[in-house]
Amino acid sequence: MRPCSLTVLSQLSPVSDSALDSAMPSQTLDPYTASVINATGPATTPRVRQVFSSMIAHLHDFLRENKVTVDEWMLGVDMINRIGKMSDERRNEGILVCDVLGVESLVDALTYDLESNDHTKSAIIGPFYRENSPQYPNGASIIQKDLGGDRAVVHGHVKGVDGLPIKGARVEVWHTAPNGLYEQQDPEQPEYNLRGTFFTDDNGYYEFVGLRPTSYPIPFDGPAGDILQLLDRHPYRPGHIHFLVSAPGHRRLITQIFDSEDPYVENDSVFAVKGELVVTFQPSTSEKAPFEVVYDVVLPTSEEVAAYESTKKK
Ligand code: BEZ
Ligand code: FE
Repeated sequence: MRPCSLTVLSQLSPVSDSALDSAMPSQTLDPYTASVINATGPATTPRVRQVFSSMIAHLHDFLRENKVTVDEWMLGVDMINRIGKMSDERRNEGILVCDVLGVESLVDALTYDLESNDHTKSAIIGPFYRENSPQYPNGASIIQKDLGGDRAVVHGHVKGVDGLPIKGARVEVWHTAPNGLYEQQDPEQPEYNLRGTFFTDDNGYYEFVGLRPTSYPIPFDGPAGDILQLLDRHPYRPGHIHFLVSAPGHRRLITQIFDSEDPYVENDSVFAVKGELVVTFQPSTSEKAPFEVVYDVVLPTSEEVAAYESTKKK
């Protein structure tokens, strides 16, 4: 294979040198790969040009490095087709496959990580979020049907980086039943069971009653499961509760809290655990539940995020 320099490529392409540099960090491109990238038309947006040029270059390198055969490529195409066929509003196999390959957690970090530890860390949303969960008063239970499990009071404050409470913040939470299923996966559970929307009070305080979450396997009867099996991996996620917290003027936070005593807390099949998100379920003094967790959420303002990002670019 004859490498071709970026100079040759730029003669063929209307792309500026700086766009090419950011699209393709490697110094040489195979002529065939260059010809595919240079088929891009002039009306393409700079971002699409950058992302696709880079993707084509990496994809071609991957195929060459691994000497991928037609039969192997067909297996890949078949997997992509099965991902599409299995997906609907109750199941998102595309996200699942990204998750087991560590893609969603990486994209989450690239999108939300700031060089600062003064705000709550994000974690992936996963495929089971549902909008419009029932709104409950602070302190209410999200358990609509008793399916066993240990109850837990989860409470804390939503604050700004300045430590001041954020009043009226919207706190959406969701988790699985003890059988490891979200309500939309399980005909035995009522609609929106174990999901709820709460608003913080004047002191930024929120509270709800849910269950101490249990570990569960991600659905492994499709391509994501096939990949886990091929890679000799288990499908379990450590017990966790999902949060989506939003407040005017602040960056929306999507995160999860993880039970420190869960056997999978250091071995999550979708690589979402961050140390700051691991919490301890303590024995509770409340008559509402035998366990409690105190979890404060800190949201940066949009201006604080912009300031961090501009420092990063310098
Ligand atoms: C979840 O936490 O809901 C989840 C995340 C990734 C894959 C499957 C499930
Ligand atoms: Fe989950």
